[in-house]
Amino acid sequence: MRKKIVAGNWKMNNDLGQTDELLSKLLKKMPETEAEVMVAPSFTSLRVAFDTLSQSPVEVIAQNMHYADNGAYTGEVSAEMLKSVGINTVILGHSERRAYFNETDETLAKKVDTALKNEMTIVFCFGEELEDRKSEKHFEVVENQLKKALFHLGPQAWKRIVLAYEPVWAIGTGETATPEQAQEMHAFIRKTIAQQYSDKVADKVSILYGGSVKPDNAREIFSQPDVDGGLIGGASLKAKDFIAIIEAV
Ligand code: G3P
Repeated sequence: MRKKIVAGNWKMNNDLGQTDELLSKLLKKMPETEAEVMVAPSFTSLRVAFDTLSQSPVEVIAQNMHYADNGAYTGEVSAEMLKSVGINTVILGHSERRAYFNETDETLAKKVDTALKNEMTIVFCFGEELEDRKSEKHFEVVENQLKKALFHLGPQAWKRIVLAYEPVWAIGTGETATPEQAQEMHAFIRKTIAQQYSDKVADKVSILYGGSVKPDNAREIFSQPDVDGGLIGGASLKAKDFIAIIEAV
């Protein structure tokens, strides 16, 4: 049975006070769920969030990390630094990192290797641009993103990989992929992993959908057979909406 996961990617939002306020609201109304629930605050709030949630079922995860163990990388954060504040899971490859910070598939492969070397779990993001889909290249684009950053891994490493398919045209736009579009791509992703590795490996990988998931569309998307939850942006910043999405998985 695959893990169901709902993760909130806060992006560059919430200072310490706002972090405390949002987490307090979340803890007050946290529903019973079989799903794993994660929140990804900014670096400055990780320790406070870790301490606040330490007695709860909610895991605090990071939004990014550098591939180097340490060194002259001003402004960057290493895996060891994340582990030192209790963080064991990291989002890698988000489209905003790729777009605004020029993260390439090659850079991401190095980040994946460093995270695994540090026994971290990875929520690996990927997805096509609108023009890829319009030109019907979306399957090719997604397959290449997976191959270049992840397919050098052995089968055992996939126990620490969670995938997050996030069509770039759906992120922050309100243009959610239809449940059929999400299922079609998730099934393709799982088939691609099965071809590279085995059905056994592919069947165990949790594949999350991300891109304008809201309380009113979550249940239908999450009900798709190859959708194992969601990576939530804007809606994770409102406790009521995030809780409604958790209840939908
Ligand atoms: O990482 C999740 C994020 O990219 C989705 O954002 O606001 O469309 O839910 P949003």
